[in-house]
Amino acid sequence: MNQASTTRLDGKAMAALLRAEVTQEVAELHRRGVQPGLAVLLVGDDPASAVYVGSKLKACAETGIHSVQARLPANADAAAIHRQIDEWNADNAIDGILVQLPLPKGIDTQAVIERVGPFKDVDGFHPENLGRLAAGRPGLVACTPAGIMDMLARWGHAANWTLAGKHAVVLGRSITVGRPMALLLMQADATVTICHSRSLDVAGWVARADLLVAAVGSPRIVQGDWLKPGSVVIDVGIHRGSDGRLTGDVDFNGALGRVAAITPVPGGVGPMTIAQLMRNTVLACRWRQRV
Ligand code: GUN
Repeated sequence: MNQASTTRLDGKAMAALLRAEVTQEVAELHRRGVQPGLAVLLVGDDPASAVYVGSKLKACAETGIHSVQARLPANADAAAIHRQIDEWNADNAIDGILVQLPLPKGIDTQAVIERVGPFKDVDGFHPENLGRLAAGRPGLVACTPAGIMDMLARWGHAANWTLAGKHAVVLGRSITVGRPMALLLMQADATVTICHSRSLDVAGWVARADLLVAAVGSPRIVQGDWLKPGSVVIDVGIHRGSDGRLTGDVDFNGALGRVAAITPVPGGVGPMTIAQLMRNTVLACRWRQRV
């Protein structure tokens, strides 16, 4: 396989398609007098988090979704965070609540996640929504894994590639990506292996993956020669190197010419996550308001 034969999965282009669909749906809701609304809470002054929140609010404006933002200082106590969430839980103009993670040290993140009403949990991190996913019941699904499924469906449809019967290997078991990802892949009839920090012979599992989803959080830890030739690679990692360039969990150049398709970093999974957040906000609006 030469380098040209590896498809770069264009997350920006696919996210634009998904966002256009959501924008149309929002316009239809507006015609019926319904305005979906998203509330975003940013605690502390992590510059990367501020950039992500900015992108989410911009996407709301472009999609026609009403948005509000609240900021709390890095030394805010848990009670202040819970008060803000309670206010939005009770606000009928708000359909979705997103608390940007990570939270400052000392804050119990799980308690904050569980404070958000499950109907407004557009991140899909609440145990009720994760439980619904595990049970195969409808609910709000975490944006990154849901966006990846959308991407695989769009590309798979065009490339005549399907997940059914494939061996999917997920690297990472977080509630934000790895766990919901594995459940969605299983739901789509893949055979799923989850590897994590205590797994043995990760390279050996990766070598047997028809689909690899890397959500480890270590730059270029997955080497090109680990990958199964002809496989599909989804790279969730995003790291800024000392040279200022962004890289993923997978050695992208090492994968080129070896795999059938791979998501670049940036421009792969990231834009899909934001588009999926818009979609989740509309879903939350429709379910809660029964429209
Ligand atoms: N920080 C990084 N990714 C995410 C995400 O998907 N949701 C939230 N709330 N915070 C994040």
